Amino acid sequence: MGLEHSRALLEVGASVVLLDTNSDKLDLAKATLESEYPKNRIRVSLSDITSETAMSNLLSQLNSAGILLSILINNAGINPKYDEVSKSGMKSRVENFELADWENQLRIGLTGAFICSKVFGGAMANSQGGVIVNIASDLSVIAPNQQLYEKGDLQAGEQPVKPITYSVIKTGLIGLTRYLATYWHNDGVRVNALSPGGVYDGQEDEFVTKLNSLIPLGRMAKVDEYHSAIQFLCSDASAYMTGQNLVIDGGRSIW
Ligand SMILES: NC(=O)c1ccc[n+]([C@@H]2O[C@H](COP(=O)([O-])OP(=O)(O)OC[C@H]3O[C@@H](n4cnc5c(N)ncnc54)[C@H](O)[C@@H]3O)[C@@H](O)[C@H]2O)c1
Repeated sequence: MGLEHSRALLEVGASVVLLDTNSDKLDLAKATLESEYPKNRIRVSLSDITSETAMSNLLSQLNSAGILLSILINNAGINPKYDEVSKSGMKSRVENFELADWENQLRIGLTGAFICSKVFGGAMANSQGGVIVNIASDLSVIAPNQQLYEKGDLQAGEQPVKPITYSVIKTGLIGLTRYLATYWHNDGVRVNALSPGGVYDGQEDEFVTKLNSLIPLGRMAKVDEYHSAIQFLCSDASAYMTGQNLVIDGGRSIW
């Protein structure tokens, strides 16, 4: 989705800096965007959002190049596999969930968003103001329906589940959003969350059919259906909005 959020901003004239730890994905995103938009508006940085030092160094590099940031989108995350089996059983189940996985996933999804907010949001608060958008999920407002993840004829206690970390991270991002919105309310930094529903990306038919039946609009999101929401949240169109969670999920969370 980072590619799509970049497209949304490039479409309306912004310049973007994409960060990722995966160099292949970053190279592909750069090449794709450069074929669609002016090259001088696209930068990439192979860097880890969980390193405060790396984020501070990146901020210094950008400032040295005369670039002042006015938008931060906290989008990175990991969508952990839910059907892996370890010696103790189905890894995603709470009783088997490994502490190392809990800590690693929270570090990327929540601590990473905190570090980027601290470094880049802090710089915006100190200078010209700006906006932060935290990418949460419909699972920031509802619990996962574990029936979506059930497999074959496994016993109830052995079924895979959506990992608990996903709900904790996405709900935590809403707390981060509210906290920072009030913390920086006098410094010209607005902070909102966007909670997308599931985006169709070739998932298994059985999963898609089950999920579609839980969504009033009857389908998953198309990959480009969040462009206008990103443009709204990142521009003065949302000048009177801070601390909110914009839920765009085909209505799933109202059923
Ligand atoms: N795709 C969906 O259906 C959907 C729905 C709701 C919410 N979301 C949220 O949107 C965001 C993007 O989702 P996606 O589907 O594009 O996921 P994705 O896994 O395709 O992309 C996430 C990116 O984050 C990068 N990343 C991981 N750890 C990092 C780190 N420490 N530093 C820098 N980059 C790191 C990964 O390399 C990856 O490229 C996630 O926060 C996800 O939870 C996605």
